Amino acid sequence: MENYILILLAYLIGSIPFALIVGKLKSGADVRNYGSGNLGATNSILVLGKKAGVIVLLGDVGKGVLATTLPALFQSNVNPIYIGVAVVLGHCFPVFAGFRGGKAVATTAGVLISYNPLMFLVGYGVFFIVMYLTKYVFMGSLSIGVALSMFSLYIGDQGLVLLFILFSFFMVYLHRVNITNYLANKEVKITEKKRIRK
Ligand code: G3P
Repeated sequence: MENYILILLAYLIGSIPFALIVGKLKSGADVRNYGSGNLGATNSILVLGKKAGVIVLLGDVGKGVLATTLPALFQSNVNPIYIGVAVVLGHCFPVFAGFRGGKAVATTAGVLISYNPLMFLVGYGVFFIVMYLTKYVFMGSLSIGVALSMFSLYIGDQGLVLLFILFSFFMVYLHRVNITNYLANKEVKITEKKRIRK
């Protein structure tokens, strides 16, 4: 199969809006109309509850894992980084949900679990530590790109350093509302996050 078709397929897999699907099936709700408006696991937990949020999390991680199997499945030599980038972009700007999607955290985790479990452990280990210390989910999310840029520098892979620096800026862009909320003292800490819809 042509490389560009596999990249498109990865984007389409990323575009499956699990938070939207689970919300609609569970209670007819569009998760984007509540809380942070994000089509991700954190907001799904607040809007739909823990069980539904975990299903969204598994679905969003699963998209990342599934997309990375495409090159082997179709015996293609496509650059695996293009596949990883495409599935994450699909998750953030899903064609099946008006290009309003999530903030890259879970789907990137899926890509890393499949490509490089050590990088996953480093990036998401730092995510949990920063979230635990600051009590803000978005700060944990922002720290993933920084941690992975530094780790790539440590292992001496300049291509990955550049990729994760770009990823860090992308994460700042995706979390711009969280950042302005934080600066205005309006961002909710994880310890204060309560279910916002019954
Ligand atoms: O899971 C994405 C996280 O970084 C922020 O989500 O809903 O608090 O904006 P949210």
